[in-house]
Amino acid sequence: MKKRLAKVTGIALVAAMVIGLAACGSSNDGAANDAAASAGAEAAGEIKLAEDGKLHMATNAAFPPYEMTTDDGGYTGIDVEIATAIADKLGLELVVDDMDFSATIAAVQSGKSDMVMAGMTVLPEREENINFTIPYQNAVQVVIVPEDSDIQTIDDLANDKMIGCQEGTTGYVYCSAPPEEDGYGEDHVLSYTNGAMAVQALIGGKIDAVVIDNQPAKEFVAVNEGLRILDTDFANEDYAIGIAKDNDALLNAVNGALEELIADGTVQSIIDKYITAE
Ligand code: ARG
Repeated sequence: MKKRLAKVTGIALVAAMVIGLAACGSSNDGAANDAAASAGAEAAGEIKLAEDGKLHMATNAAFPPYEMTTDDGGYTGIDVEIATAIADKLGLELVVDDMDFSATIAAVQSGKSDMVMAGMTVLPEREENINFTIPYQNAVQVVIVPEDSDIQTIDDLANDKMIGCQEGTTGYVYCSAPPEEDGYGEDHVLSYTNGAMAVQALIGGKIDAVVIDNQPAKEFVAVNEGLRILDTDFANEDYAIGIAKDNDALLNAVNGALEELIADGTVQSIIDKYITAE
């Protein structure tokens, strides 16, 4: 199995941002539009929002430490905190729209949610349906196996193993690809509504391995006994925020806010709160 590298779009987008920042903001109506202009967003028409004064974020809050539910029915995690900081900069109130991961892109395309932020990897296939902001986090896909598994490396997955993934994720896309494209074929992959369910299937012996993003993998292994993560990474990826193709004004505004939050260290300090350096 060759390592698959997700397309890196970050550099081009950062360059576009710098040009955007250099351009003068034109005057717009509405708090979000004003805030966007002062956040350095390039004028690209009016920002469209699902609801006035709110920033609706489509996510799947079963993906610790990026998004998860709290005991009192709220939401927390790296993405939720970064999104809150972005909303603050734009003078908006963040609303979390929790749904299946596989429904998030359609929610943004239909305008029911304003953006998807869900530990979502930038993928060329997804870029056909939504636009992505600059990346805010690098991640890798890893393989979880039972401690006593005979699977020692990624190559062992090709030995007629059954792999579990969260539906609609890059893990599923890579694993279900045909062997010519470095995958294991659809017959060797089962998809689950979320990562925790895939991990339960692994513990129950229904599948041989789970392929999922590295940080959720660590959290699942920490709370379930008898599992381990293979040393070799499966694929290298960038997470970014997805926004509807017809909402360039919002894309520019969110990019402007995100750029500032990266530059002033806010994004890193949020990440550091949830992920301790190894
Ligand atoms: N990074 C992977 C992808 O983009 C998995 C993301 C899953 N996120 C979630 N909130 N469940 O496909």
